[in-house]
Amino acid sequence: MALVLEGLKRLEYRGYDSAGVAVVHDGRVDIFKAAGKIAMLEREMGSTPATSQTAIDAGVLRTALTKRGHVFRSETDTEVLVHLVEELHTQGRPLVDAVAGALRQVEGTYGIAVVSSREPETIVAARRGSPLLVAIGSGENFVASDASAVLAHTRSVVYLDEGEIAEVRPADYRIMDLAAVEKEKTITQVDWDLATVERGGFAHFMLKEIMEQPESIRNTLRGRLLEEEGTVRLGGLNITDEDLLKVQRIVITACGTSWYSGLIGEYMMEELARIPTEVEYASEFRYRNPIVDERTLVVGISQSGETADTLAALREAKRRGARTLGLVNVVGSTIAREVDGGIYLHAGPEIGVASTKAFTSQIAALAVLTLKMGRLRALSILQGREVVRALGRLPDLVAQVLAKAPQVEQLAERLQRATNVLYLGRGYNFPVALEGALKLKEISYIHAEGYPAAEMKHGPIALIDDLMPVVFIAPKDAVHQKVVSNVEEVKARGGRVIAIVTEGDAALAKLADHRIEIPETLDLLTPALSVLPLQLLAYYIAVRRGCNVDQPRNLAKSVTVE
Ligand code: F6R
Repeated sequence: MALVLEGLKRLEYRGYDSAGVAVVHDGRVDIFKAAGKIAMLEREMGSTPATSQTAIDAGVLRTALTKRGHVFRSETDTEVLVHLVEELHTQGRPLVDAVAGALRQVEGTYGIAVVSSREPETIVAARRGSPLLVAIGSGENFVASDASAVLAHTRSVVYLDEGEIAEVRPADYRIMDLAAVEKEKTITQVDWDLATVERGGFAHFMLKEIMEQPESIRNTLRGRLLEEEGTVRLGGLNITDEDLLKVQRIVITACGTSWYSGLIGEYMMEELARIPTEVEYASEFRYRNPIVDERTLVVGISQSGETADTLAALREAKRRGARTLGLVNVVGSTIAREVDGGIYLHAGPEIGVASTKAFTSQIAALAVLTLKMGRLRALSILQGREVVRALGRLPDLVAQVLAKAPQVEQLAERLQRATNVLYLGRGYNFPVALEGALKLKEISYIHAEGYPAAEMKHGPIALIDDLMPVVFIAPKDAVHQKVVSNVEEVKARGGRVIAIVTEGDAALAKLADHRIEIPETLDLLTPALSVLPLQLLAYYIAVRRGCNVDQPRNLAKSVTVE
């Protein structure tokens, strides 16, 4: 039982608001449920026998089962399914047949695990829409929605595909489709180790993951940079150079922070590769009538690889004949498996709900993809080499910025009581303004807005007074002078300016009330540096305000429902 609770705790980061356990022992199934953290569930379970052989995480059961056309015999959709299974099972069918039979009668999305007192050693698991895997131990097997739950016991996992059902026992397992046709499945070795899903010496996963960025970016770039040729090697694109040359348009689709990195990707792709690029919220794209064809490359960006809208947008694009690529962190995730090809981020597990290291790895991966596309077109070898070299230096520059954490912590003390904060940036750093504002909103619950700095004059400038901190992301880049003018406009209205600037920027040193310096790099890579103080700022403010940094209220790590 301790094992199931430990697994549930490792899944807590995904942002469940309640959890439950079903325990099979002495010919019965006992169910425990509690709203809130796993600790509440532990309290609820108090005197439960510590040694059941079979138990399931009702958190998995709870993941959405949407039903249509059924006569409801109980309050929830999930209960309807359970009754259906029970009916078939008590008629004498083995549990796996009963679950398959029930699932053939229902519609909707689910990730379920079912146990029965009649087959105390069996777990039957099935997926449609929600991630699920079977983990293979020695003399013991597991069912989980995420490999991090079982890493302490095994690294060998089998990912279930849509519409598959697994019958899992301590010594063996079988995977079938709902028509009982057995499937040959490959066993994947998860390369994350236990340390990466634990906090190490850090107070929070978020801080650990912020501080890991020199390493996570290095891992994204490892083996991919070809300095001499001024290009990159990408083993997983699964598209020939000839076909990449036929691409006339790129659509990037994603949600949240991944959407912001997509915006940076658009700027890179248009500037360096000269390919018309659009960035679409996956939730909008999927329900419009998007114009994509076989000359469109649709790139989905997702840390988790499970975001329902991003997955659906990619499926829609595929249906219309587009080539699809995934920039995904979680190996073996649904998006990673469904796209034609892609670039894994290799940033390691991101447990903190607020995305940090995945964002900077996405920027690195987008730069790499831009180089690939650009070098097949007009980007010269010299330009290519310049970008490759700058990418190679990036991890060390990231470490230099992170060393300024104590300075950012002091700044957080001054900002912690703010009720509104405005983030402004231009060019490559406009998406960073959006990301800085999102980080603050989601973990400190302070209202924040990100805006293109010049757009401020068209509305938000009315908000500015001496109580309104304005964060400018203003490194020395092509639009720097323009941003300096925007800072002057804010100062003239009494605003308090915090500026992220390039080392030695004299103009902003005079104008800004507070500033954090970042080293120089190519314009396109400035976001990977300028975002770091903003991640730290949000973190320290949230800690000072006593917020739950790793699991902010109302948020889930991967949004597997639309
Ligand atoms: C914000 C955050 C979310 C995710 C979004 C997409 O810190 O984490 O906005 O970026 O839910 O998630 P993925 O990248 O897993 O598709």
